[in-house]
This record gives sequence, C-alpha cells and structure tokens, in this order.
Amino acid sequence: MRIRASKGFILAQRVYHRLRAMFLYEMWFPTYSDKIQAMVRWSPDPVRYASMALALERVRIEGIPGAIAEVGVYRGDTSRFLHEQAPERKLYLFDTFTGFPDGNGDHRFRDTGVGIVKSKLRDLNNVEFRAGIFPETTAGLEHEEFSFVLFDADKYEATMACLNFFYPRMSPGGCFVLHDFNSAESGWAVARAMREFMQGKPESVIEFPDIGGTAMFRKIRGSDPKAGL
Ligand SMILES: C[S@@+](CC[C@H](N)C(=O)[O-])C[C@H]1O[C@@H](n2cnc3c(N)ncnc32)[C@H](O)[C@@H]1O
Repeated sequence: MRIRASKGFILAQRVYHRLRAMFLYEMWFPTYSDKIQAMVRWSPDPVRYASMALALERVRIEGIPGAIAEVGVYRGDTSRFLHEQAPERKLYLFDTFTGFPDGNGDHRFRDTGVGIVKSKLRDLNNVEFRAGIFPETTAGLEHEEFSFVLFDADKYEATMACLNFFYPRMSPGGCFVLHDFNSAESGWAVARAMREFMQGKPESVIEFPDIGGTAMFRKIRGSDPKAGL
C-alpha cells in the first residue's frame, strides 16, 4: 500500500508532533545525553528514535567495535541523529541521493542530494558518503567491521542486499535495525526479506512499537563476525 500525503496533511502532522512533544511522557533515566533526548522529543517518531538511541548507547557502553551504516538516507535527518550521538565512529551513508533506483515505479525521495545532507550534518568528520545503488556502493568495504546498521530503503531487493552484506561484517553484540518491518509498504517487503534471511540464524528479532514498525536484532556474541563471508 502506498500512502500519499498532501502538503496540508504533512503540515498538520508537523504541528501535531510539536504539540505532542510538549506533553509526551519521556523515559526518566535514559542512557543517552540530554541533547539526544531533546532530538528524540522533537523527532517525527520518538519511540523509534529513543529505541535507536538506547541501542546505539548500548553498543558504546559495551565497547562493541565497528562503524555505523545507514542504508537509505534521504535528506539525512536520521544520519544527523546517529552522528550526533556517536561522532567518534565512522558513519557510512548509502543512498542514490536521487530516489529509488530507476525502474521500480516508486518516485518518492528524489528531492535530495549529498549537498543537502552535508549541510544538515554540519560536522562531516568521520562521515563517508556512498552515492549510488546499494549494494554496488559497498566496493572497498569488504573488510570493514560494523557495530550499528540502520536499514531504511523500503524494498525487498535492497533489504536482502543489506542483510547479505552487513550480517557477516557485524561485530558480535552489534545492532541491526530495520525500519518498516511491520509495514504493509511494498507488499511487506522488509518482513519478507528478513524472514527469509534469518532462517537458520541464531539471532531473534525484536519489534519496536514505533510508527514505522521497526525491528532489530543483535549479532550473537561469540559467533564469528566473518562467518558466511
Ligand atoms: C525512506 S527513505 C530514507 C529515510 C531516512 N532514513 C530518514 O530517516 O530520513 C528511503 C531512501 O532509500 C533510498 N534507496 C532505496 N533503494 C536504494 C538502493 N537500492 N540504493 C541506494 N539507495 C536506495 C532512496 O533513495 C531513499 O532516499
């Protein structure tokens, strides 16, 4: 199901988010900083952003080594959030920056570009842009190690490619977050790919009660991070 939103609806939604943020109950003792808490508060999906922040803080607290990757960046709102929380880690940003690859009939997310994301991030230390169609843009990263991966590119092929590339390169204890898992979008694409991929794997999926139906798993400790390469 494709959800089309008018400009009026999007504006009303933004106003609602701002109002809701003034009254929302928040976690009393978050592990992340006040600055991240403020970003969570003003985000379009506080449950998702808070859950991601807790997961990323866990990675830091436990000293799990590896870079961060976001597949599906669009205008960089979440990239900024991730980089703000863990500026000391390398952040790889994968996107065409021109919307979905040609030919799949989905014309959303074209109003972006590397320049837009750069100006949103401001601090570009440790940030690497990988512009083009994923997974072609992973060239040269075969021996990289990842501690936190966020997938947000909606489609079945991209989900499968992302799992195939990052799973064997995740550090034990690393977090793999997939947006749109509990989402009917693209024929439940993310859930279908994930269910297929996770067959026979030791990790279990945890679902978030956020708007987009995000899910996450952590790479099992003690497993060989390069297994399956
Ligand atoms: C839902 S948006 C990402 C939103 C972003 N994570 C955020 O929080 O604002 C999906 C993005 O995935 C990108 N995308 C989808 N399939 C891709 C592929 N195979 N390779 C590269 N980028 C892709 C699109 O260009 C689009 O910008």
